[in-house]
Amino acid sequence: MTSTIRSVGVVGAGQMGCGIAQVCALAGYDVRLHDVTTERIEAGLATINGNLARQVSSAKLPEEERSKALSLIKAAPTMDDLASMDLVIEAATEDETVKRKIYQQLCPALNPEAILATNTSSLSITRLASATDRPERFIGIHFMNPVPVMKLVELVRGIATEDETFQSANKFVASLDKTITVAEDFPAFIVNRILLPMINEAIYTLYEGVGTVEAIDTAMKLGANHPMGPLQLADFIGLDTCLSIMQVLYDGLADSKYRPCPLLVKYVEAGWLGRKSGRGFYDYRGEVPVPTR
Ligand SMILES: NC(=O)c1ccc[n+]([C@@H]2O[C@H](COP(=O)([O-])OP(=O)(O)OC[C@H]3O[C@@H](n4cnc5c(N)ncnc54)[C@H](O)[C@@H]3O)[C@@H](O)[C@H]2O)c1
Repeated sequence: MTSTIRSVGVVGAGQMGCGIAQVCALAGYDVRLHDVTTERIEAGLATINGNLARQVSSAKLPEEERSKALSLIKAAPTMDDLASMDLVIEAATEDETVKRKIYQQLCPALNPEAILATNTSSLSITRLASATDRPERFIGIHFMNPVPVMKLVELVRGIATEDETFQSANKFVASLDKTITVAEDFPAFIVNRILLPMINEAIYTLYEGVGTVEAIDTAMKLGANHPMGPLQLADFIGLDTCLSIMQVLYDGLADSKYRPCPLLVKYVEAGWLGRKSGRGFYDYRGEVPVPTR
């Protein structure tokens, strides 16, 4: 038995929430997008519009599909606007307190049958589920960034996730033409358990003066055949998200090898969060990104 999902609510209109809303609408789902302010929702809708327009102008998407997808995504200024959704995916800031508060406000508004999913990169699905009224209908659906481009989605069950919820989520993700890997509920699952310590080590390499930003990224692109250097990738993910994931690994696995690099902490404290704030290991305010160290 699986639930039929026709409508998807997305909480958080940041880089991931917008990407999720975009792929769901392109697959024909009715989508509602929520964030803390209407300005953020409008900014999210404008980002989606811009992304789809770029796909049309590079002949990757017919104009009719763009306008159909846009007509399927509507702003949801309040949690009550998500009441009729079959599935709600929370893609808000990677902070457990923020996510718990969202579930407290969201759950009473939802249909009891609705499935609630989180796009968390690292937090315990079991612990997040315990902050909801439906641990058996709660699951981790971890999309990769950028959502429209990346093929993989990690599915993560909490201890209480029912098989029906898992099967429904599986069917939903397959309908988006994504490939699923199943990960157990351990800190940062599979992709980020491996990727983030590598990025953190690249930041240590910069911190200790082993190489410049450019040297480190070039070394890993040309020496390890990575499509993007680790510092460029960190900026792309968001340095606040990188720090949160390292902190979850460090706390959850109690091993000093996961300690976040002090330079990463300093950048986040400065508000230098990467591409989304205009500056991280690169400065994005000019025509081309410029390394900052
Ligand atoms: N950035 C990545 O590469 C990546 C990849 C996979 C998963 N994720 C996960 O996706 C989630 C979102 O990450 P992101 O990169 O989109 O972050 P982001 O900073 O771009 O966006 C987060 C959004 O959440 C909103 N938000 C904060 N509190 C909220 C609340 N109470 N109610 C509604 N919205 C709220 C913010 O206003 C913001 O628009 C995180 O859990 C992150 O770990 C991120």
